[in-house]
Amino acid sequence: MYYSDEIVEEIRAKSDIVGVISGYVSLKKKGSNHWGCCPFHNEKTPSFAVSENKQMYHCFGCGESGNVITFLMKYENYSFPEALRVLADRAGVQLPELEYSEEQKKRASRRQRLLDVNKDAATFFYYQLRKNPHGEVGLAYLRKRELTDETMKKFGLGYAGKNGGELVAYLRKKGYRDEEIRDAGVATFSEKNGLSSQFWNRVMFPIQDANHRVIGFGGRVMGDGEPKYLNSPETDIFDKRRNLYGLNYARTARAGNMILCEGYMDVIAMHQAGFSQAVASLGTAFTPEQAHLIHRYTEQVLLAYDSDGAGVKAALRAIGILRNEGLTAKVINMRPHKDPDEFMKALGREAFQERIDQAENSFFYEIRMLESNYNVKDPEERTKFHREIATRLCNFEEEVERENYLQAIAEKYYIGVDNLRKLVANYAAAGIAKPVERPKSGIQSKTAAQEGAKRAQKLLITWIADYPQIFPKIRPYISPADFTEELYAKVTERMFADLEKGNFQPAEIISTFEDEQSQKEAAELFFEKLPEMETTQEKEQALRDVILAVKRNSYEHFKQKQAERDINAITQVLEAKKALLALEKLRITLDE
Ligand code: UTP
Ligand code: MN
Repeated sequence: MYYSDEIVEEIRAKSDIVGVISGYVSLKKKGSNHWGCCPFHNEKTPSFAVSENKQMYHCFGCGESGNVITFLMKYENYSFPEALRVLADRAGVQLPELEYSEEQKKRASRRQRLLDVNKDAATFFYYQLRKNPHGEVGLAYLRKRELTDETMKKFGLGYAGKNGGELVAYLRKKGYRDEEIRDAGVATFSEKNGLSSQFWNRVMFPIQDANHRVIGFGGRVMGDGEPKYLNSPETDIFDKRRNLYGLNYARTARAGNMILCEGYMDVIAMHQAGFSQAVASLGTAFTPEQAHLIHRYTEQVLLAYDSDGAGVKAALRAIGILRNEGLTAKVINMRPHKDPDEFMKALGREAFQERIDQAENSFFYEIRMLESNYNVKDPEERTKFHREIATRLCNFEEEVERENYLQAIAEKYYIGVDNLRKLVANYAAAGIAKPVERPKSGIQSKTAAQEGAKRAQKLLITWIADYPQIFPKIRPYISPADFTEELYAKVTERMFADLEKGNFQPAEIISTFEDEQSQKEAAELFFEKLPEMETTQEKEQALRDVILAVKRNSYEHFKQKQAERDINAITQVLEAKKALLALEKLRITLDE
């Protein structure tokens, strides 16, 4: 973190979260919170709560939460320093000059140089298209593809001429070293030609990250030629797995979904027709990282892949990746046209909207594609097809969902519903279906016991945040070490220290974490859903159960460590045992 904790806290404390968020979301006060429709997912009834006391927000629908700084980072896609600067301006606080370490400076300036090279290259291509007589072929080509001037401008389209030396000369004149030009991915070096543009005789599509910064290019050859599209190589600033073409506009489209397609021209054609929620993967297959990126903005993805065989294959792959990410997917039928670009040209936006409305549930789509592999007139093949359906149905963990799909599929394919149900039950019992894995980026899947322990720890943190008066009473029996999740321990260490000083602000603790993921996880800890209970007595009982669960887990945890010959665990085990005995006798009251 570049700014001192003090200045960060000063700015946070001076920024009223209700005031800031009201600028984006219409809020209504109800009880101790202000409520509105969540800006981070699509909803019609408000489940987005802003707490004046905690100076935090939380969505009970999608789970997003954080403080005023993380709100701006997420909503505006600002970096931490950017969000801080905006809030400082608003609150009239003077920010000190940034202090970077030497290492940070070097890294930041190198990245900045590579970004600058790409930006200047984009400018160069842009002017080649418009101002250079050679650019006329490019302009004519784009016009023939029915792009308006406005669209070309919006996407910064350009042209790379036949002379590969011009770009290099232009960039050298701007003061970039050869090595920088090469590392930025816009030029390559050869013994014969020296440094020369990576792209020539192509219309250029600058690839921008979510913050509109140019990080690479795709170039399309004029007419026929190989390769049809040439892309920048991966560089320090261009990670193809983690970016999506068009996301810089799609992320604020708020259409309730994103449309995922294959090509640059498809994205542009859709945006031009008003579907600015369209994105494309970058000349490579769709990745789990890209699915995760999409999940930051929406819950639903509509696939608009090419209607040919390769497109179907790619769509089936993407469906699996989207499902693993926990996103719902539907498939848009483009037939009889090849891709969204051609569809739009032939039939127009209303027809495309109709196709969106009729998009097919991804499971039905998978089964329909599967069917084409079998000759279902043949009883033997038909049986195989049904078996395959049953196996796939097993993958729905939730019974209601499985049953609903089962009934729908049985009806659609004229299969006896009881027979199919029996088949599914047999397969499930035999463990034939693999359990669906839902890996959350970077975090391994946990066992049920671990999940339970985590939840108890979260609940306890929320209890203490909501009822700080219980803290002195339970403090002798609970310590940050009992929070066996590393991040939770960090939060409680800070939280307990603050409570002891009588100065506890959950929103402040969030900002001590640097990366967005940790901030989000930390924020969630203060918004665990406490069970709804009528009487104080019931509440006290629930709290008691939570404290005991946390302590028991801690006891087991350290006992395990002790078994693994961790010397330090010995005292912890003894201490936990003692605390458990004491806790069982302790009466916990919620009164002051
Ligand atoms: P397509 O071959 O489907 O082309 O490639 P397209 O989008 O319909 O292109 P137009 O309409 O003929 O101009 C889809 C996407 O795959 C990547 C590009 O991102 C392209 O937009 N691609 C394709 C490459 O990276 N290299 C290639 O040689 C071809
Ligand atoms: Mn096309």
